[in-house]
Amino acid sequence: MGRLSGKVAIITGGARGMGAATSRLFAAEGAKVAIADVLDDAGAALAAEIGSAARFYRLDVTSEDAWAQIVGKVEADFGPVDVLVNNAGILLFKSLLETSLEDYERVLKVNLVGEFLGIKAVAPGMVARGKGSIVNISSVDGMKGANGLAAYASSKWGVRGLTRVAAMELGHRGVRVNSVHPGGVDTIMTNHDGGSRDEVNQRFGNIPAQRVGGPEEIAAASLFLASDESSYMIGSEIVVDGGMVLGHYYAGMPGAPGAR
Ligand SMILES: NC(=O)c1ccc[n+]([C@@H]2O[C@H](COP(=O)([O-])OP(=O)(O)OC[C@H]3O[C@@H](n4cnc5c(N)ncnc54)[C@H](O)[C@@H]3O)[C@@H](O)[C@H]2O)c1
Repeated sequence: MGRLSGKVAIITGGARGMGAATSRLFAAEGAKVAIADVLDDAGAALAAEIGSAARFYRLDVTSEDAWAQIVGKVEADFGPVDVLVNNAGILLFKSLLETSLEDYERVLKVNLVGEFLGIKAVAPGMVARGKGSIVNISSVDGMKGANGLAAYASSKWGVRGLTRVAAMELGHRGVRVNSVHPGGVDTIMTNHDGGSRDEVNQRFGNIPAQRVGGPEEIAAASLFLASDESSYMIGSEIVVDGGMVLGHYYAGMPGAPGAR
């Protein structure tokens, strides 16, 4: 028996990166997986790789109409949706004063409005059945400040607030809503020039893990929240960041890497 046997899951942004790792893991644990993304080729290739437990569905998370359609299609193909992983996201590095209104709204639309629409699309069915799990992917940037991330951090803090409200409103109706807060993860988003894992690790020398995270390490947290093992978790925030939000080392001082 897999940890998600008999469950149907929609994973947005499922075609690559963390979403792809989550799709593979959920299928390996017995779920039927709807890979929902705007990347047609990558999504179809991943569905073919996984086999009959997965299908690709084109979904732009910012479209309310597209959300209504995908839920109907997934239910017709696989049955009622038990799990939604709201994972699709985009990153923008720009100083606050250089961030245009258009930039700001574009990031919020995908990262925050997309998750809001996803909840609105799947929750009514989950409430009617009295069960369901929604996993919202936020970030450590939804827990702290960071230069260059005015739009992104706003969106990820927003996801954290949205998660708490949804968890309160839906929790007493059997639908658990929780968030996952990854730190640096080795995907195209962080590693856009395709550096080796060793090269990317260099950038994370200042955190306790001393390395970047792998997409499968974040997928493991989503798996736990999606499964019935987390049945008493409502509105929780799971931080998977190699210690990034703890603080930073004072280089060379006692207790720092390489010091005594
Ligand atoms: N990589 C990191 O270091 C990191 C850290 C913290 C949080 N996150 C978050 O994790 C999630 C996954 O990111 P990733 O690192 O795998 O990045 P990624 O760029 O590899 O994957 C993001 C996926 O989202 C999809 N997507 C983008 N806009 C979409 C839209 N409008 N509709 C549907 N799909 C859309 C992309 O096509 C892509 O497949 C994101 O929410 C991201 O903000 C990433």
